[in-house]
Amino acid sequence: MAITENQKKLVINSFKKVEPIADVAADIFYKKLFEYDPSLKSLFKSDMKSQGRKLMSALKLAVSSLNDLDALVPVLQKMAVKHVQYGVKVEDYTPVGNALLFALKQGLGKEFNSELRAAWSDTYRVMAVVMRQAAYSNFNPDTFKNPKHYYH
Ligand code: HEM
Repeated sequence: MAITENQKKLVINSFKKVEPIADVAADIFYKKLFEYDPSLKSLFKSDMKSQGRKLMSALKLAVSSLNDLDALVPVLQKMAVKHVQYGVKVEDYTPVGNALLFALKQGLGKEFNSELRAAWSDTYRVMAVVMRQAAYSNFNPDTFKNPKHYYH
């Protein structure tokens, strides 16, 4: 997985600032996600508060494992297969990534500069590639070079 040491540090340190406002960040995340794609709403069966907590604890696990990526890969692979059962499709990783970047931008304000944005975007992209490769036999990373699938 290709994330630089500096990017890892940026992501880990900034996440510490998101944690205290996790509930607010999760609300922003879901609101934006359903704005991007209202059809995703029906996939989420549990209440949004506990869903938001799950999201934040998963991110916490991922962020804290950035220094031990070999251990993180099988966790992400298992998680991805479960997501197929939730009805998640390969292309859904794009609006989720964008909603995550939006929530971080709102939550971190000015601090979310272009360097930090690139660090989070690369981190999510790497995680999403591992998950999609594990779960979708038709996944081709080249498809996601299409501007439609860029994270903004
Ligand atoms: C880096 C990417 C992602 C991470 C770390 C993540 C994390 C999680 C975690 C920890 C859970 C709780 C249950 C479990 O462990 O399986 C979960 C559930 C779920 N996730 Fe994700 N997820 C990611 C991407 C996505 C994407 C792209 C979608 C697409 C919409 C999605 C939709 C869902 C749904 C529908 C559930 C089940 C909700 C329910 O039971 O009500 N996730 N996710």
